[in-house]
Amino acid sequence: MAKLVATLASTHHPFYLKATTAASEDQIPQAAEWKRKIEAYRETLTRAEPDILVMIGSDHFHQIFLDNYPQFLIGKAPAYDATFYNEEREFGLPRYRLSGDEDLPRFLHQSLLDQNFDFAFSNELKIDHSIVCPIITLRPQNDLPIVPIYTNIFAPPLPAPRRFFDLGRAIRRAIEAYPSDKKIAAIGTGHLSLELGGPRQFMETGPDPAFDRQAIEWLRTGDADAILGSVTHASLDRSGNATHGFLNFILMLGVAGPEEADYADHLDLFHTMEAYFTWYPEGFAQ
Ligand SMILES: [Fe+2]
Repeated sequence: MAKLVATLASTHHPFYLKATTAASEDQIPQAAEWKRKIEAYRETLTRAEPDILVMIGSDHFHQIFLDNYPQFLIGKAPAYDATFYNEEREFGLPRYRLSGDEDLPRFLHQSLLDQNFDFAFSNELKIDHSIVCPIITLRPQNDLPIVPIYTNIFAPPLPAPRRFFDLGRAIRRAIEAYPSDKKIAAIGTGHLSLELGGPRQFMETGPDPAFDRQAIEWLRTGDADAILGSVTHASLDRSGNATHGFLNFILMLGVAGPEEADYADHLDLFHTMEAYFTWYPEGFAQ
């Protein structure tokens, strides 16, 4: 059977590349530290030596819009174009052509249906920065096939937090039931407290620094019970109008265990908290 070799969950700050490749006199003060932390985080994936990346993200109204937004969708294409025009223009993100894998998503799709997750699928998905950013931070050589999974964190009504957690558990079971000798890493990105286009955007901190500190501690310790006992759609809304991206972190904790993270780090940027977590199913010394 296939082996899950690592589970990674992080924020997906679209300005990382621009911030760390600008001329040194134009860089923000935290750029060097940010780059150091990303490169250390990248090593947690590299050391797991994966063959395929299952990548969980969410379309930011680039390909999927309010008129037709699946709750959960799996990509089954042989390849994916990535990066939309506004992401090139605003964030300076490069275009990518990502290799797909057709066999694993076929298996995952059936397994997830069998586990009562009625997934939509797409054979012509174009990928946005929720998956491009972790390619840039974790696998910039872009040399591995991906299986994209999109969740709905943007277009209410959203699935319940527990549904995201249970989906993570189901994805873990599906990966480990895949009849293959492939080594698979699961990588998911989302948001901590975040405000997009609202009055709390671009403040000194994220819109809810207390939530950010709590969220990091929950994930570091793998405390799914505390998360599921505390986090609701309404509580996320109070922490910022895009804080529902935390649902993807809940999903990844489902994939991981829930267990204490083997690696946890964060970075307080001027208007957001960045956070990076890695879990290894067989411990850090594998
Ligand atoms: Fe996002």
